[in-house]
Amino acid sequence: MTKTILAVNDLRVTFNTPDGEVTAVNNLNFTLDAGQTLGIVGESGSGKSQTAFALMGLLAANGRASGTARFNGKNILNLPQAQMNRLRAEQISMIFQDPMTSLNPYMRVGEQLMEVLILHKKMSKAQAFDASVHMLDAVKMPQARKRMRMYPHEFSGGMRQRVMIAMALLCRPKLLIADEPTTALDVTVQAQIMTLLNELKREFNTAIIMITHDLGVVAGICDKVLVMYAGRTMEYGSARDVFYRPAHPYSIGLLNAVPRLDSEEAALRTIPGNPPNLLRLPSGCPFRPRCSYVMPRCDATPPLECFDGERLRACFAPLETLA
Ligand SMILES: Nc1ncnc2c1ncn2[C@@H]1O[C@H](COP(=O)(O)OP(=O)(O)OP(=O)(O)O)[C@@H](O)[C@H]1O
Ligand SMILES: [Mg+2]
Repeated sequence: MTKTILAVNDLRVTFNTPDGEVTAVNNLNFTLDAGQTLGIVGESGSGKSQTAFALMGLLAANGRASGTARFNGKNILNLPQAQMNRLRAEQISMIFQDPMTSLNPYMRVGEQLMEVLILHKKMSKAQAFDASVHMLDAVKMPQARKRMRMYPHEFSGGMRQRVMIAMALLCRPKLLIADEPTTALDVTVQAQIMTLLNELKREFNTAIIMITHDLGVVAGICDKVLVMYAGRTMEYGSARDVFYRPAHPYSIGLLNAVPRLDSEEAALRTIPGNPPNLLRLPSGCPFRPRCSYVMPRCDATPPLECFDGERLRACFAPLETLA
């Protein structure tokens, strides 16, 4: 039987700004089973990172989260600091968008890995050393033992990202949140890291939330996909359905912007226009100003509706007209 590890209900993140209140995440609902991967996809500013930060208890001081996020049955949203720290050390870890935000440039990589285990797993130095080398091996770091003594700047971008993954997996988390773990890397290295995460997911039975703006990345490694725009769910379903039979004009736009190796087309078809200013959202569907399927009734907000069994979408355009 599959076990639901995370159930998010009506997650909302708002920020107080001098210009008014901004809703960065607007009533998000999703579930994640043990060992499953959920992709959260959307353009810059759609609310992907703030969703992750809310779950991790890492929102900026002017931010507020509401709703519930039940991790193994227990609500972890807005937990007291001490409890959240423990959870982050033992059960949930995150790979951040910028690897240098989580690596200390003045400390050898080995020491940084060992410190985590000595602190949280109460290991001896010798045990922590062995476990760190083992984990660097698991993320396919060549010459792991030798690299324990090196500093972060001595690693390439791809290798640094592997260190980040190793660090995130050291305490064998039940849930790993990977926020654009490969954006700074070239395409070949990106593919290697994604394959690696996929292998590690199986080996450690970790559930993963994979945050990305690239729907192509998601297709290969995710079970489910949530497509976000202006903080809201546009479409939610199995990765296969969203990738092969997208049911929202925004998903179609994101897919057309995915580089394809099998296409002669040199230029990618980007979505016209820009993501909206959250302080000045249009009425009705937030994607309306950029949508090529727009209709008069899009002045009203399309509800998130179930179709085709388990799929969800927020769009009035008849399915058969989308292509
Ligand atoms: N401290 C803050 N105060 C006000 N607004 C904020 C704050 N932090 C984030 N936001 C706003 O929340 C929205 C969502 O941001 P978020 O970081 O989740 O985007 P994202 O989807 O991760 O984008 P990217 O792909 O660029 O990382 C943005 O419009 C951003 O300006
Ligand atoms: Mg982000």
